[in-house]
Amino acid sequence: MSYQNLLTAVEDGIMTITINRPDKLNALNRQTIQEIGAAMKSAESDQSVQVVVLTGSGTKAFVAGADISEFSHYGEAEGKDLAQKGHDVFNSIEQLSKPVIAAINGFALGGGCELAMACHLRVASDNAKFGQPEVKLGLIPGYGGTQRLVHLIGKTKATELLMTADMIGANDALSLGLVNYVVLPDQLMEKCRELAGKIMKQAPLAIASVIRCVNDAATPNGFATEVDEFGKCFVTSDFKEGAGAFLEKRAPDFKGR
Ligand code: COA
Repeated sequence: MSYQNLLTAVEDGIMTITINRPDKLNALNRQTIQEIGAAMKSAESDQSVQVVVLTGSGTKAFVAGADISEFSHYGEAEGKDLAQKGHDVFNSIEQLSKPVIAAINGFALGGGCELAMACHLRVASDNAKFGQPEVKLGLIPGYGGTQRLVHLIGKTKATELLMTADMIGANDALSLGLVNYVVLPDQLMEKCRELAGKIMKQAPLAIASVIRCVNDAATPNGFATEVDEFGKCFVTSDFKEGAGAFLEKRAPDFKGR
């Protein structure tokens, strides 16, 4: 599939999705959000894809936010519609059955920070900057930021970042638990591939179960989901293979069934 604002490539089980509006610091206009949704659907259905890596083009920005030029004239109904469409796509990233790793190669502001937070794992280059500056514009985050930031770093620091519009660097983001790793810019994709490689050695259906359980940790259903998903693992061929391989002292050969 070809896109106006995205580049995609699949290699060795990894689909790389690159948001490609470098002259606008990869700001998310409606078209780009819709295309990210379509790319996630294609990652879900493509049997050759095991992990998705999402990044921004250029060296300056992952995504510098929602495209401000697009909504400066909006009213309430249009604002709600914009947020709902963003939620639908960002939730589809979080709920993808395959891991999505954000490779954060620069500014991750507003919708860019929210996009990174919708991914399952985050690797940042040491020049990355994070923030939710919406209050500077008289807005609040509309793509899940008020919720995911609290879940990821806790209410105390999240409230401060949401209220002050402060930008923080990659190492502060690491200390807060906002990202998994910080690496040099030229090692960013390599680190993502290393992480993806470790995940791809595991049982794919178990990975999908982990995603569902972790997502439900923010709801009252988390423990019940774990019981359910744990039970379901026992009827997979991958469990028979994994347990058999352990007992036979060999490496497992998972098929995702
Ligand atoms: N929406 C639309 N356009 C954006 C954008 C956004 N969120 N962020 C950057 N751009 C555009 C700029 O308008 C500029 O376009 P132009 O060259 O046609 O004028 C281009 O990207 C480069 O940005 P610029 O501001 O010149 O780069 P900078 O290095 O001086 O500053 C930032 C970088 C990220 C600090 C600054 O662009 C910024 O504050 N962006 C908005 C961040 C934000 O508020 N995000 C939340 C939106 S809800």
